[in-house]
Amino acid sequence: MTELLRVPPTAVSVHPAVVSAARALRRGRLVAFPTETVYGLGANGLDPDAVGRIFAAKGRPPDNPLILHVESLAAAEELVAEMPTVARRLAEAFWPGPLTMVLRRRACVPDVVSAGLPTVAVRVPAHPVALSLIRAAGVPVAAPSANKSGKPSPTTAAHVMADLDGLVDVVLDSGPTAVGLESTVIDLSLASPRLLRPGGVTFEDLTSVLGRGVLELAGEGEAERPAAPGMKYRHYAPAAPLTVVTGHPAEVASIIRAEMRAAGSAGRRLAALVFSETLPLIPAGGLVLDLGSRSRPEMAGRRLFAHLRACDQERVDGILVEGTTEEGMGRAVMNRLLKAAGGRVLRAGEGKACVDG
Ligand code: TXA
Ligand code: MG
Repeated sequence: MTELLRVPPTAVSVHPAVVSAARALRRGRLVAFPTETVYGLGANGLDPDAVGRIFAAKGRPPDNPLILHVESLAAAEELVAEMPTVARRLAEAFWPGPLTMVLRRRACVPDVVSAGLPTVAVRVPAHPVALSLIRAAGVPVAAPSANKSGKPSPTTAAHVMADLDGLVDVVLDSGPTAVGLESTVIDLSLASPRLLRPGGVTFEDLTSVLGRGVLELAGEGEAERPAAPGMKYRHYAPAAPLTVVTGHPAEVASIIRAEMRAAGSAGRRLAALVFSETLPLIPAGGLVLDLGSRSRPEMAGRRLFAHLRACDQERVDGILVEGTTEEGMGRAVMNRLLKAAGGRVLRAGEGKACVDG
C-alpha cells in the first residue's frame, strides 16, 4: 500500500507528514518526495538493502548509480574522499540547487549506490520539503527520479503514483516541481571537469565559475571513459515515437501541418508540442500543447515531461516536438528531446530526406 501525504511546499522537519516519511526512510522503506527538479524515489543511502529496493521498484539496471542527497556541503564531505577546491566553489555558487557533483567516494558509501564505481554523485536539493526530509531522517537519501526506468521523470505526485503505486511506501505531494528537468551532473573526479548531463544549472552558469574552456562535454573523448552510466539507456521516452522539428516558427509549423495531414489520411493521430509563437500557426483540433515562449526555454523545461505523459495518456501514434537552441536551459531541453527521439530530427529547409537515425 502506498501512503500519499500532502505537504505544503514550505514544510519544515516537524511537519507530521515529513516526520512520518523520515521514520519510514530510517526503517528501510521507500519514500518519494519533491525536489526543485523532479520527484525523487528515496531510500536510506547508507542501507544497501533499502537502496536495493529502489532498483527493484524502478526496474533500474544495477550498473546505473544513484545520487546521494544531503543537506549541506559539510554533509557531502562525509561521503567523499576529497572535496577539491573547484567542487567547493561550485557548491558555494549553486547549492542548494539543481547541481550534482561526481567525486571520489569514501568507503562508507555502499557499492550498490555507486554501482561499484570509485565515485559517488552528491547533491543538496533546493526544495524545502526535500531538505526537511533529509534533516529529519538524519541520513543521506539515495534517490533517482521516481519514474519507472525509461519513462519521463515525474514532475507531480500523480506522475509518481501512475508509475509506482503499490511499489513505494510513502509519497509526499507538494505540487508540481519548479525546474521540471533533472539536475545538471558534473564529474569532478577527473583532471578536468566534465559535464555529464545538462540541467537546471546551465553550461553558462558553470562557466561563470570555472572560467571559459575549462568544462568538457560528455561525448567528447567518450572512448576513454563512459559518461554517466544512466545516459546510455533509452530515457525520458514516451510510448509513442517522438520526432524533433527545428527551424523558424513558420517552417516548423508547415512541417508539422504536413506531417499531421499525412498521418491523418493514414488513420494515425499525432500530437505536437510547440512554442507559444508557433501555436497559432497550427490548426486547432489535434493534441497541440504549448511549451511556453521560445525566448524562455526554462518554461519548456518545466512543462516537457508532463506534456509527454499527457501524449501517452491520449495514446497518440506519434509526437512532434519543436526544437530550440542549445543556450541556457535550451541545452537541457534539447538533450532530453534528442534522447527521447532516438535521433529522429526533421530540419526545416532540408526536406524529409534529412531525418537522422
Ligand atoms: O534532479 C535530479 O538529479 C533527480 C532528483 C531526484 O534529485 N535525480 C535524478 O536521478 O535524476 P537519476 O538517477 O534519475 O539520474 C542520475 C544520473 C544518472 O544518469 C546516473 O548514471 C548519473 O546521474 N550518476 C550517478 N552517480 C554517478 C557516478 N558516480 N558517476 C557518473 N554518473 C553518475
Ligand atoms: Mg532518472
